[in-house]
Amino acid sequence: MSYWAWDSSLEIGIPVIDSQHRRIVDYINELNTAISTHSETEVGRILSELVEYTVTHFAFEEQLMEQGGYTYIKTHKKVHENFTHRIENYQERYRAGEDVSRKLLNDLKIWLTNHIQRDDTDYAPFVRKNASSTWISKTLKRFFH
Ligand SMILES: [Fe+2]
Repeated sequence: MSYWAWDSSLEIGIPVIDSQHRRIVDYINELNTAISTHSETEVGRILSELVEYTVTHFAFEEQLMEQGGYTYIKTHKKVHENFTHRIENYQERYRAGEDVSRKLLNDLKIWLTNHIQRDDTDYAPFVRKNASSTWISKTLKRFFH
């Protein structure tokens, strides 16, 4: 049983974003396994990859919103920024020896569910209408190589 099972309530209907969100959910499940099996090095490794992937995902999403002419892009960017600070703070505490992994998992799951279902769902119609697939694949290459 995975810690967080993906389901259709997390889909915003933009395949490129849905697959990135799925990847984040996978990372969270991998992190859960590493915590359960007490693999300290794995926890550290997955945590860094998760943070890096999430930050890249946010940057990609922000470009997409811009391309889609999304009205509330500024607010959405601010939400990403706040969240990035939060996960970086967890990572620092983890590095300093504090056992924050379980708290982080829990926080991530709640935060991401809300963010996807509320904030990301809100920009989806703009992107579906205005972002071309050519633009998407070009930008994807720029962010994830
Ligand atoms: Fe977002």
